[in-house]
Amino acid sequence: MALQKANPSQTQVWKNLQQHFAEMQNVSMAEMFQNDTERAEKFSLEWKDFLVDYSKNRINQETINLLLSLAEEMHLKEAINSYFTGENINETEDRAVLHSALRAPQNEVVEINGKNIIPSIFEVKNKIEVFSHEVISGQRKGYTNQKFTDIVNIGIGGSDLGPDMIVEALQFYKNHLNIHFVSNIDGDHVYETLKKLNPETTLFITVSKTFTTQETLTNSETIKEWFLKSGSQQDVAKHFVAVTSNIEKAEQFGINPEDIFPMYDWVGGRFSLWSAVGLSISLSVGYDNFDKLLRGANQMDEHFKTTNFDENIPVVLALIGIWYNNFFGAETEAIIPYTQYLQKLAPYLQQASMESNGKSKGRDGKKVDYQTGTIIWGEPGSNSQHAFFQLFHQGTKLIPADFIGFIESLHGNENHHLKLMSNFFAQSEALLHGKLENQVRREMLDNGISAEKTDLCAPFRTFEGNRPTNTILIQKLTPETLGSLVALYEHKIFVQGVIWNIFSFDQWGVELGKELATSILAEITTGELQNHDSSTAFLLKHFMDKK
Ligand code: F6P
Repeated sequence: MALQKANPSQTQVWKNLQQHFAEMQNVSMAEMFQNDTERAEKFSLEWKDFLVDYSKNRINQETINLLLSLAEEMHLKEAINSYFTGENINETEDRAVLHSALRAPQNEVVEINGKNIIPSIFEVKNKIEVFSHEVISGQRKGYTNQKFTDIVNIGIGGSDLGPDMIVEALQFYKNHLNIHFVSNIDGDHVYETLKKLNPETTLFITVSKTFTTQETLTNSETIKEWFLKSGSQQDVAKHFVAVTSNIEKAEQFGINPEDIFPMYDWVGGRFSLWSAVGLSISLSVGYDNFDKLLRGANQMDEHFKTTNFDENIPVVLALIGIWYNNFFGAETEAIIPYTQYLQKLAPYLQQASMESNGKSKGRDGKKVDYQTGTIIWGEPGSNSQHAFFQLFHQGTKLIPADFIGFIESLHGNENHHLKLMSNFFAQSEALLHGKLENQVRREMLDNGISAEKTDLCAPFRTFEGNRPTNTILIQKLTPETLGSLVALYEHKIFVQGVIWNIFSFDQWGVELGKELATSILAEITTGELQNHDSSTAFLLKHFMDKK
């Protein structure tokens, strides 16, 4: 069944939410905590190794009830069913959206046009397993018969951000192979990477679903040229493999057909790290850990599919996001992991979320009259505390934030971990309570600061508080918990797209810039400029004159 097409802002429940917002917008969270000692228990969810506390939000039970009604009214249940059963919910590309099938167990049946796709998924998984084992063990060698020491993933967008984020996040579990990521069309990025590499011991993986992406093809060609300064044409097949759904093009590039790992059109680029796109992950941490990552994601899929909405983590977090985006007018959402391992989570989620939900046409083709995709950003704590937290605490903007922390550290240094986690808890508590002016004054006077100086400085030392956060507290960063965490955000994005009545799985908005870049490239190489606005023409002329 296709997703229903209905404007959420025309529903009665949306109007009820607007009225409710008028009552809630200035409500004090600190007072709500004071009046209800069980607030944290009421507004938190425990699932496997996760504790999700969403009590530090400007919500009460009525808010949640109304948001849950909105989800019902927008037919979320039916949408989830269509998502997991392979309906063509990516209508504008006429495709199913089945990244969840990539992590399903072998005995599950997921059909597209009456054909079960699980056996072919397991064939590819098997190929990944065998290949990873051969490379890691040193059985597979380069053209001078040496073992591989370095792997380079050449891809961009979903063919880069997902594997890069996971390889970084799971470095505690990694083996001896060094994994590099080349994405940018910027040749300097390519050369800075090649500078560190020995062609005889490096394996390159060109990852491109379409095998037509300018950046990936140009970078692969440049790298092949570099390789051919040492190896011969027939050695290329030993050092280059590909992940793609365009087998023909990969073969034309010189890849051995046996070393092409297929991808399918029912996996969107930004949700593809679970497919052969994750080959670099499997090479970095071994196939078993890659499989654990998939299993963790599958557990979250099951939770999302089968749990009532009021206890469903992706649904609840998605609804809270809608509450701030559509009623409070919050423009952004911050992701603050308290672990350096997750330093690439925010950039990864930027593509996952913003390429999915950065849309302004409803599924009915009409321009929406409400806000859709939020701006995602963030950096790990405690670094970010010393960078942009000032604006969180005292700025004029409302920035809902997810704080993600782990009970156990991986290397087990308690001194560091307790300090890290004290910061984690302290920040969301400070954001909640703030600090009132009379308390600031009292403290200053008690510290012997003059009344005059206290009068002058107290307003600047005051914190309003009442700033919302979700806390996601996880036992330990493992392949399984990481898989669950990433799947949680994937489903959150899905829920929001369903409610906003948009198509989350296409990305037409990236096309125009690509087209213009192609014609501008022709103009600057031939020196014949076409018609442009005066700013673009002026800039192009300056660039060409000074080159
Ligand atoms: O620029 C948009 C995009 O199509 C992304 O959606 C995708 O992840 C990326 O380019 C890379 O595409 P491909 O894997 O086909 O090279």
